[in-house]
Amino acid sequence: EKGGWASFMDKEIHEQPQAVADTLLGRFNLTGDLNLDEVRIDEDVFRSIDKIIVIACGTAAYAGMVAKYAIEHWVRIPVEVELAHEFRYRDPILTPRTLVVAISQSGETMDTLMALRHAREQGSRVLAICNTQGSSIPRESDAVLYTHAGPEIAVASTKAFVAQIVAAYVLGLYFAQVKGTMYHDEIRKIVDELRAMPAKIQHVLDTQGESVREAAEHSLDAESFLFLGRHVGYPVAMEGALKLKEIAYTFTEGFAAGELKHGPIALVDEGEPVVIIVPPARGRNVLHAKVISAIEEVRARGAYTIAVAEEGDDDVRDYADVVFWRPQCPTLLSPLVDVIPLQLFAMNMAELKGLDVDKPRNLAKSVTVE
Ligand code: BG6
Repeated sequence: EKGGWASFMDKEIHEQPQAVADTLLGRFNLTGDLNLDEVRIDEDVFRSIDKIIVIACGTAAYAGMVAKYAIEHWVRIPVEVELAHEFRYRDPILTPRTLVVAISQSGETMDTLMALRHAREQGSRVLAICNTQGSSIPRESDAVLYTHAGPEIAVASTKAFVAQIVAAYVLGLYFAQVKGTMYHDEIRKIVDELRAMPAKIQHVLDTQGESVREAAEHSLDAESFLFLGRHVGYPVAMEGALKLKEIAYTFTEGFAAGELKHGPIALVDEGEPVVIIVPPARGRNVLHAKVISAIEEVRARGAYTIAVAEEGDDDVRDYADVVFWRPQCPTLLSPLVDVIPLQLFAMNMAELKGLDVDKPRNLAKSVTVE
C-alpha cells in the first residue's frame, strides 16, 4: 500500500536508498571479494567472455547504457547496448563467448524475452538482471542476478532503475575480479563508494525538493524540454526525458550534449527549458568545461537552464537558472544520484498538471506482447 505517500511513484522514489542497499547486500565477503554463487555460471566461463551485449527496453535500456561505461572501463571488454526489439530482428553476431545481459524489472517484457531466446538459440549465454523472482526472463536465462528493489507498482520505473544500475556494477566488478583487470584494492574502494550511495541518495531526497518544485512551477507551460548529458550523464538525460514523457505527457528529447551543435541547438528558443547533467569538475575532468559551455550556448539563446551538478561546482551558478545539487561521488556512480531530482521533477510536473502519476495514459507496467 501507499502508506502516507501521495502516490506509489512518490513512495518508490523515496525507497531508493533501500533499493540500492538491498541490491548490494550479501554480495561481498568481509574482505571485499565478490561472491556471486547465486549466479551459477563457472568462473572459467566468465573468464572466457570477450563481449557483452545488454538487451532491454525503456528505462532498463538506459540502465544498460550506464553499465556500458562502467563495465568497459573496469573490465576492458566491449559492451554493446541494444533495444531488445531491434536486436532480435537484425541478425546480431553472437558466439559462445558473448554474454547477453537481459535487464528487466518485470521479467515479462515480450520484446526482451524474444531477444534472449534468440541469443540462446545462437549459442550465447544469457544472464538476467531482474526484479521479479521466478518471472519468465530469469526462468529462461542461464543465470540471474536479482535486483532487490521490492515490488514496483507505479508504471514509471524509479527504484528498479537504480537497482538495475547497482546490479550491473556488481556484475562488472565481479568480471574485473575474475578476469584480473583490477587490483583487489581498487575493487574494494569502489565497493566502499557504492555502500555510501544510499546515504547520498537520501541526502538528495532530503534537500532538493524545493528547487525541483521551483523548476517545475516555472516550466509548467513549456511545450517541450531538452535533456542533455555526456558520458554517464547521457543515459541519465535520456531517462529524465523519458520520465517526463511518460507521466507529464510533455514532448521531450534527450541527447548527448556533444550533439547540440550538430542539430538540436536549432530547437532552442526564448524560454525553452533545457536540463543539463554536469559531470564533476574534480580530477581535471575535461568534460566538465565542455558541458558548462553547452549551458552557456543554450543560455545565450534564451533557454531556461536547469542543471544537475556537484555540490561546490561554482562554475555552474553563473549559467544555470536552477541547480539540483548532488553530493560528491565517483563519476561512474553518479547516475544513482543524478536521476533522483529528474524523477522528482517529472512527478512534480504531473502533479501540477493534475495527472494520474501512477497510471499514465496508454502505458502498461509490463508489455507482454511484441
Ligand atoms: C515499459 C514500461 O513498457 O517497459 C517501462 O512502461 C519499462 O517503464 C519498460 O521501463 C521495460 O520493462 P521491464 O519490466 O522489462 O523492465
